[in-house]
Amino acid sequence: MRVGQFSGKNAIVFGGTSGINLGIAKMLAEKGAHTFLVSRSSEKVESAVAEIVAAGGKASGCPADVRDYDQVEAAVAKAVELGEIDIVISGAAGNFLAPAAEMSSNAFRTVIDIDLVGTFHTARATFAHMRKPGSSFIAITAPQAVKPMGGQAHVCAAKAGINMLIKCLAFEWGPQGVRVNGISPGPIVDTEGMRRLAPTPEINAALTAALPLRRYGRADEIASAACYLAGEEGAYVTGTILDVDGGTALGSGGLA
Ligand code: NAP
Ligand code: COA
Repeated sequence: MRVGQFSGKNAIVFGGTSGINLGIAKMLAEKGAHTFLVSRSSEKVESAVAEIVAAGGKASGCPADVRDYDQVEAAVAKAVELGEIDIVISGAAGNFLAPAAEMSSNAFRTVIDIDLVGTFHTARATFAHMRKPGSSFIAITAPQAVKPMGGQAHVCAAKAGINMLIKCLAFEWGPQGVRVNGISPGPIVDTEGMRRLAPTPEINAALTAALPLRRYGRADEIASAACYLAGEEGAYVTGTILDVDGGTALGSGGLA
């Protein structure tokens, strides 16, 4: 990790007020970026900004719901008061376990709206303000994009859409020097996502035993991947989904 790698750079992190995305925001700030945090709750924005500032980083933010394009555009307008955007992290998401046959239409639509439409909104609203050439858009996807999972039809469909959106945007925006990539985290410790997907120690143990690396990942391991993709080291990488998942996407290898 190079301290100061992102000095003078501006990052905006959608869904950056808790969990994995906050972990990314903290590492970007540690390495010198000004991080602008966006999520629905103004209390969460305030406390995440305060945490980064208390650690010596530069941060600000405002509330917005990624489902509402006007709110996203207004948040971006505030962020660009600092200057052109170098790094966008798009990680807002919603998840719950629900069998497809029992899920309401609104439940399915809600997750598509937050994850997939929300990712489009963040990309659409930031593109005009991204430094060209030299900026990087990173969406947070998930193994559900490529691996069907029970109770996750809504999330699988949304994240699969995000994976293709990443490739389409990379294709369209490459000529202007904007790189677009995704990170697909495996199960990450101490996150809301895993509290919802693996609510008991028994489920946790079974899930861990099925992972090729036999452990959950940490938010800082996802943040390191984001720094690679956003930085000079990733300068020739676009349109890719980087699996940082302990082998989750490999599946069971044919074993039960
Ligand atoms: P989390 O802590 O719940 O983070 C979700 C963030 O998104 C929060 O900051 C939340 O803040 C914000 N958010 C939710 N709905 C929003 C909306 N409509 N508009 C704006 N912001 C919204 O969850 P996490 O588990 O760390 O997950 C973070 C990302 O990693 C997600 O994209 C998830 O799919 C992905 N992921 C997680 C795991 C895992 O192991 N946890 C594995 C694979 C992929 P507010 O409540 O204030 O809006
Ligand atoms: N099982 C089945 N349906 C569910 C559900 C569950 N556990 N939780 C919510 N729903 C349904 C609701 O019943 C509603 O459908 P309906 O109108 O037909 O009854 C629909 O989903 C929307 O729910 P609502 O609570 O109004 O949505 P919201 O916009 O307030 O919140 C969620 C969005 C549901 C995704 C909420 O869990 C959330 O805010 N999540 C963010 C944090 C998170 O999920 N973190 C993990 C990221 S991986």
